[in-house]
Amino acid sequence: MNTQTTTAELAEPNLRRLLSTAGLDVEYTRADGNIIYRRGEDGGEIPVLDYAGGYGSLIFGHNHPEIVACARELLDEGTAVHAQFSSHPYANQLAAELNRIIQRELGTDEPYYATFANSGAEAVEAAVKHAEMDRVMRLSKVLAEIEAGAESVRAAVKQGLATVPDEVYARLALSRAGSDEEGLELVITEITRRNAAEAGKAPVFVALEAGFHGKLVGSVQLTHNEAYRNPFTALGTRTRFLPRDRPDVLWRLLEEERGVLLRLALEDGRVRLVDEDHHPFCAFLLEPIQGEGGIHVLTTEFARAIQEFSRASGCPVVVDEIQSGTGRTGALLASSAIGLRGDYYVLAKSLGGGIAKMSVMLVREDVYREDFELVHSSTFAKDSFSCHIALKVLELLEADGGRAYRQAAERGAALRAMLDRVRSEFPDVVKEVRGRGLMLGLEFHDQSDSEDQVFRNAAQSHMFGYVIAGHLLHGHRIRTFPTASAVNTLRFEPSLLLTDGEIDLLERALTDVCAILRERASHRLAIPA
Ligand code: F0G
Repeated sequence: MNTQTTTAELAEPNLRRLLSTAGLDVEYTRADGNIIYRRGEDGGEIPVLDYAGGYGSLIFGHNHPEIVACARELLDEGTAVHAQFSSHPYANQLAAELNRIIQRELGTDEPYYATFANSGAEAVEAAVKHAEMDRVMRLSKVLAEIEAGAESVRAAVKQGLATVPDEVYARLALSRAGSDEEGLELVITEITRRNAAEAGKAPVFVALEAGFHGKLVGSVQLTHNEAYRNPFTALGTRTRFLPRDRPDVLWRLLEEERGVLLRLALEDGRVRLVDEDHHPFCAFLLEPIQGEGGIHVLTTEFARAIQEFSRASGCPVVVDEIQSGTGRTGALLASSAIGLRGDYYVLAKSLGGGIAKMSVMLVREDVYREDFELVHSSTFAKDSFSCHIALKVLELLEADGGRAYRQAAERGAALRAMLDRVRSEFPDVVKEVRGRGLMLGLEFHDQSDSEDQVFRNAAQSHMFGYVIAGHLLHGHRIRTFPTASAVNTLRFEPSLLLTDGEIDLLERALTDVCAILRERASHRLAIPA
């Protein structure tokens, strides 16, 4: 479809200008598998090998024929795309199929309930809302129990079966006044006041440094990058960002955020004041493989520590599989390989098969609040088109005993082996290769002090990775990007259709990039003026 126009730029013109500085403001007009076609100066098509893979939303490549056929069929048969507030058997089937696969991967039979959404950040926010609803409901129950306990103490004191010892007053900095009955009322008023203050503390979220969970009003506060988050802190909730692989910091956090709720009890005819630990944690969000923040794989040990933290604090774990999930690492959930069990999972990107906007929030039965369904909704969510497309995606993943998962793992290993080769050939240029399956990153050494002025300027203005991406595009017809919050790292997230030939093309291109960097020869960069 021809969308070329001479209209003034009104759709994010600033972003387009920025892209143009690295030659990345090209128009793509068609795509097929791992190839995306751009329009050349003469209007002709130029094939480009796509390693950006729609930021990880193309596990089966662009326009996979079976997914496209499914879409065509749905439209041809006049599917009722929007049938809000009715029965959605296809959504239920999708939830059941997700459960079947997840239960197999986790070795559990506890079901997860599904809430569908349209984008990654929206699913993250659904999880956050649900977790907050659950936290508030759990807290109300505890407060109601404390109140009921106070009621029985009140009855016992009234009947003369219990007395209020001095230590209770002292503990609350109250002075003893009048009878036990009158004194107890003062005590209860003070406890209620203190408990209300503790329970009213704003919820605390826990997330990891370099983590990315979206850019909406709520989710941006869970995203580590300060440039995205800081302008909007006044709108959001409080998040504690922790370094990866530091269980000691987790335990310190537990202590720092610990508060107490006070409860009255009876012991041998005396009223006692009991401290009960209270943590204001709402949810712990993490990506099993951090994507936008630079491709960092979480370790099994850290996953275990997070799970222990969750048990000790009552803080549910939200596993963000938006980028790492849906087959990319050889399983539906990348986290299943590190032994992590989420209270929540969020999936998006590839779940839409590259053509639908589909995401889902899954919550474990044990923490599920059915009232959530009455307070959360979205016009476009759970529509027949995207549910059927996601079902097709799962069917393709599961076909032939999970051939697609094996293919993703095997192709990922082949790609990784090539990246490792490049690194061992250019250890002075390439700092590290990271990732798993078809979610890989290659980090360059920082060029801020390069003798080459172009590289130095690019690094200092946080454009380094984009300049390299521009060269890959114009010099090698390869499309990829840096991870936006860590621009020295290039990301590689091709589809599982990746061929050896395509890996060779990238190897040649990266070898060229590394030679240019080693020789500080920015004049050899192919970026249009
Ligand atoms: N969570 C993760 C792990 C993501 O990678 C993303 C998006 C989101 C949530 C938000 O999803 O954009 O559909 O609202 N990542 C993109 C990236 C932006 O660069 O990898 P969204």
